[in-house]
Amino acid sequence: MNRRGYLKVVGVLSATLTLALYGGPGHAADPPPTTVLVTFHSGTGNTEKMAQGVADGAKGVSGTTVVLKRVGDVAAGDLLSSDAVIVGSPVYFGNMSGEVKTFFDNWTLKFSLFQDRKMRNKVGAAFATGGSVSNGKEVTMLTILAAMLINQMVVVSGGGGFGASATTGPDSPGIDEKEAAEARELGRRVAEFTAVVKRGSTK
Ligand SMILES: Cc1cc2nc3c(=O)[nH]c(=O)nc-3n(C[C@H](O)[C@H](O)[C@H](O)COP(=O)(O)O)c2cc1C
Repeated sequence: MNRRGYLKVVGVLSATLTLALYGGPGHAADPPPTTVLVTFHSGTGNTEKMAQGVADGAKGVSGTTVVLKRVGDVAAGDLLSSDAVIVGSPVYFGNMSGEVKTFFDNWTLKFSLFQDRKMRNKVGAAFATGGSVSNGKEVTMLTILAAMLINQMVVVSGGGGFGASATTGPDSPGIDEKEAAEARELGRRVAEFTAVVKRGSTK
């Protein structure tokens, strides 16, 4: 083989190796399109502000479409067309509010999602606001994550250890910048992880 032929063979081999290792040109540059549903209940606006922060964080991840809705406005189609669902609740008597619980109950009673495990392998995460420093925010996030686990979703944290949370009572009224940043961080982590899952599932 002359020098020209040799270089041609080397070129073809190196292009083949690059494709095999990296999955083709643009693999790292083009994240797969994903849809993240951020849904919440909020009576007095605190959880809604956190939801906005979560949505902003997710929007910052390239390739992510964010849908932001109150739990009462979510239809089965919203859940089925999402790759990830992030649920936020105010703490009501140490747990998620009745509206958020009804939302999850409807996954069986109204939407028939649980029966065929239609939420299986979608990404899930939680956020919460509570009036007191320690009166149920972590329980609220963990019970949201429990409902997702029972539906065979893949739950992740971000911001805080169990998701994002804020204290809103007299000791620390409203959502401060640190809490808003935690909400954005949760949205970002979920969107990033969802892209990883989607890329893996299409290979
Ligand atoms: C019925 C009810 C029960 C509540 N129970 C708790 C509680 O157990 N622990 C807590 O920290 N805050 C509790 N709160 C306060 C709310 O969790 C807090 O004000 C929250 O930020 C409200 O969120 P929102 O503004 O999105 O409605 C309760 C509020 C209501 C209305």
